[in-house]
Amino acid sequence: MFFIQLKNLYKSYGSIKALNGLNLKVPKGALYGLLGPNGAGKSTALRIICTLLDPDSGDVEVAGHNALIEEKETRRRLGYVAQEVAIDKILTGRELLLLQGDLYHLNKNYKKARIEELIERLEMNEWIDRRCGSFSGGMKRRLDLASGLLHEPELLILDEPTVGLDIESRAVIWGLLKELKNNETTILLSSHYLEEVDELSDEIAIIDKGKVIASGKPDDLKKKLGGDRVTLRVREFSDELEAESVRKLIKNINGVSNVVVNKKQGYSLNFLVQSNDVISNLSECLAKENFDVFALSHSRPSLDDVYLQATGKTLMDAELELAGKRDLKLENKKSMR
Ligand SMILES: Nc1ncnc2c1ncn2[C@@H]1O[C@H](COP(=O)(O)OP(=O)(O)OP(=O)(O)O)[C@@H](O)[C@H]1O
Ligand SMILES: [Mg+2]
Repeated sequence: MFFIQLKNLYKSYGSIKALNGLNLKVPKGALYGLLGPNGAGKSTALRIICTLLDPDSGDVEVAGHNALIEEKETRRRLGYVAQEVAIDKILTGRELLLLQGDLYHLNKNYKKARIEELIERLEMNEWIDRRCGSFSGGMKRRLDLASGLLHEPELLILDEPTVGLDIESRAVIWGLLKELKNNETTILLSSHYLEEVDELSDEIAIIDKGKVIASGKPDDLKKKLGGDRVTLRVREFSDELEAESVRKLIKNINGVSNVVVNKKQGYSLNFLVQSNDVISNLSECLAKENFDVFALSHSRPSLDDVYLQATGKTLMDAELELAGKRDLKLENKKSMR
């Protein structure tokens, strides 16, 4: 059974198409990860599921309810932790949780016990009675998570829950998410950390320009790539001509595919191999043609490779590109002043 189903969602902000026919099915009890570059539409999709935003068209189903009509039914089932943290500065952490408990109409005894449980679980004891204004990013994030979990929602929606956090805070949050997953809570989270999504998710979707461009179990997506990733250098700094000769040589070896020359890394060669035997064949072939092996690294495909295959760029490249465009816009604005 699917806990969330998004069908053909469209949403524009003026001329910006944030969602462009988005389809998504999140199984009940799964931890589902959304990946995608800045501006891909992740937060927009999450806010629509939380009933905070209406799509221009399309269907949203949460726990069998039409979320666009049955807003109350939907809201009471979910906890949402937004990307931007907006926490009252004057209240203490505990006061804020008590207030939040009142908003959820929680019974007094239950509310107190639940708050204690979450303070303990998220390791907030030492600072929860300080004013929120003095909290660090990691403290705010944990408090936010506690707030979203107060009413024990069936569905937890997290928009980049660990962005900018130190290793300890991240570990606390990961631990809790794993526990919740074991307790059948459905979790949908967006993240820029491939490692986080890989470690936690049962299934993922990669979103680009308002659409899902790849989805499935991380391992299946990696297997679909067709092998392990190898990086080869025949010299520390090779040149185009040499790299091209090596490319022609190895592309014909059985079990080698997707051979590309990586100019940015001293004309190294990247490719996929289907088994370890292929590597020994490869070394023999190179030796016969008098090529040395300066360096060879061999790794299981990562989500980064999946992302690269789906979008044609690494997550980092995609973000740098976007950051570049932003800087350019900023410069244009400045020069127009
Ligand atoms: N309130 C808004 N007004 C105008 N444009 C918006 C608004 N919210 C989002 N957008 C635009 O919609 C697109 C999708 O934004 P969204 O925040 O959903 O992306 P995202 O995938 O969450 O990105 P990020 O990884 O940076 O958080 C972007 O081009 C963004 O600029
Ligand atoms: Mg976002």
